[in-house]
Amino acid sequence: MTLDEKIGQLCLVMGGEGTIPDWIGDAVVRGRVGAVLNEVHVDTVNELQRLATEESRLGIPLLNGRDVIHGFETIFPLPLGQAATWNPELVERGARIAAREAAAAGANWSYAPMLDIGRDPRWGRIAETFGEDPYMISVMGAAMVRGFQGGNLAAPDAVAACAKHFAGYGASEGGRDYNTTNIPEHELRNVHLVPFKAALDAGAASLMASFSDLNGVPATGNRWLLTTVLRDEWGSDALTVSDWNSVAELYTHGLAADHREAAFEAMTAGLDMEMSSTTYIDHVHALLQAGRITEELIDARVANVLRLKFRLDLFENPYTDPAAFPAPANANHLDAARLAATQSVVLLKNDERALPLTADRLSRLAVIGPLADDEYEQLGTWAFDGNPEHSQTPLGTLRKRFGDAMEIQYIRALETTRSQSRDGFGDAIKAAKQSDAVLLFLGEEAILSGEAHCRADIGLPGAQEALIDALAAVGTPLVLVVMAGRPLTLESVLDKVDALLFAWHPGTMAGPALVDLLFGDVSPSGKLPVTFPRMVGQVPLYYAHKHTGRPPTPHTSTHIDDIEPRAVQTSVGNTSFYLDAGYTPLFPFGFGLSYAAFEYAHIETSIHEIMLGETLTVTAELTNVGDCEADEVVQLYVRDLAGSVTRPVRELKGFQRVSLGPGERTTVAFQLHTDDLAFYDRHMQRVTEPGTFHVWIGGDSTTELRTEFVVTAG
Ligand code: GLC
Repeated sequence: MTLDEKIGQLCLVMGGEGTIPDWIGDAVVRGRVGAVLNEVHVDTVNELQRLATEESRLGIPLLNGRDVIHGFETIFPLPLGQAATWNPELVERGARIAAREAAAAGANWSYAPMLDIGRDPRWGRIAETFGEDPYMISVMGAAMVRGFQGGNLAAPDAVAACAKHFAGYGASEGGRDYNTTNIPEHELRNVHLVPFKAALDAGAASLMASFSDLNGVPATGNRWLLTTVLRDEWGSDALTVSDWNSVAELYTHGLAADHREAAFEAMTAGLDMEMSSTTYIDHVHALLQAGRITEELIDARVANVLRLKFRLDLFENPYTDPAAFPAPANANHLDAARLAATQSVVLLKNDERALPLTADRLSRLAVIGPLADDEYEQLGTWAFDGNPEHSQTPLGTLRKRFGDAMEIQYIRALETTRSQSRDGFGDAIKAAKQSDAVLLFLGEEAILSGEAHCRADIGLPGAQEALIDALAAVGTPLVLVVMAGRPLTLESVLDKVDALLFAWHPGTMAGPALVDLLFGDVSPSGKLPVTFPRMVGQVPLYYAHKHTGRPPTPHTSTHIDDIEPRAVQTSVGNTSFYLDAGYTPLFPFGFGLSYAAFEYAHIETSIHEIMLGETLTVTAELTNVGDCEADEVVQLYVRDLAGSVTRPVRELKGFQRVSLGPGERTTVAFQLHTDDLAFYDRHMQRVTEPGTFHVWIGGDSTTELRTEFVVTAG
């Protein structure tokens, strides 16, 4: 390879979205392009591959990348919603289907899974995360990697996964996208890096560097991250790619004096491929000639690119034959999307068993709100290739299922979720008065979450709360269904509705999933993968927090309204809480109601004391004391009571979905190996330290069913 051809392999350029601009065609033939992104017109992709493999000197095929975040043409729930299923098999199946649909369009590389820690609901990209917990994100991220890549990267329907954004992006200060991140190394190793290691262990073929400034050195130019951790410690040979323009932005960050220095920082840090900016092709030659970098360094970067192309078998099979793939959005794909959507929805309130609705008791139903019948909005953010024509909306499904048996009135009431106009309220109130029940579909449009779409106030936008007030005043049973890309602060509306279903953005099959749940064909089983704060001022608020030296309790925290006049300084409690918001969330991590009712009892460990390297079993009895069959997501949490570095008050270490009929009882069991308790200590060594551990089993992160065990050094 000539130097130019080597550097060409490190360049990822934006495709022409169905066309081949002359400059791209020419660059491909001259071997100056290693990969293309956002080209999913299969004929165009095949022509690009023909130019690369049949007209260029070396015939090196192209990687073709696409953001297939939660589906391609068939859209599954947002990743945050998929996490709410607590069902990795569904996540894997969804990614497998997405891979087939994307591969049929010529994509061979997907910029997913997104493995950032989602602990700040102001951050628009929390929608793309699998929530706040490293263990959950690890399990779901590995499942998505397996789904995209299948068992064989060389298969025509395999798509290389790309674990992103490496690393720490979710800690953007203030929940403001692209903002600075300051993360102590032990927090990086014990929280933020954990899912990336899990994804690589699952075979992830590539990683994408984050935009963000990580402790003063932006990830895209961070040698500790891209070489010391990724290559030296983890021994990974995965391809690393920058985020969009993030190499050039090393200059904008102020890490580099100009774009040549930006190329130097990224190249020497260990970044293989540059997305969209052109610092490598503009400056690597000069850096080499100036002796700033070596050709061996360039060769190492190029090798990581070529290795992935060989693994994808692109040299032998660069072309895509769409006829070799199942039709997109076929019945099987839609069924899988429906199941994922059904299991993603979380029942947050159900007073007096307002749900499930009974069709034969409803002769008139009011369906109200801007998200009841919007084929596009229900798909959510990052649904580039989602086809709204396949969308089945709640209203459409209701009419199809009950149109003859029920009088269904639909009032949009608000043009968008941001509308401030109350002109539509009158018709909504009238419909509510005339109906036996109201189904209200509110939340956030897709554009209000996702990249660069952060909110400082995470309540229902626009006049939606006013609409709830107006409808609550009517007195007709009121069921609220919220679609959103983040946790919302819903405390002010909770008492005004009889039931609340939180559906994230459920995707193509939102309608059938929600109607099945609303009418009890299946019980809600989703559980929150992220904490819901009472007020945005509580953020960051997550379950796996540290104990602090002054943990709050109901007795050591005082509400602002309860403070006596002229109270003395030390009278309101010197512990960690807010006078106006307390210290508890509105809904905790792992929470979700069911139409059934589950009781846990008799938690036990197989042995009270284990030595390092051994495994114990934790069991508990689970009974469905409700009157219907339902799934329960059983969760296992541990706490290391004392460590050389303080440990969280609880950490999720296992979960399983259990189906039980009414009155049925079972024993749930989890295996815990002492390695599952390991963490990076103050010397950055991954250790499990002897000591006493608490262990819980329950239906959410506040479960009190607890026992303990002791780890000894032996
Ligand atoms: C975007 C995102 C990244 C995405 C890439 C390509 O800016 O940060 O997640 O994969 O660019 O679209």
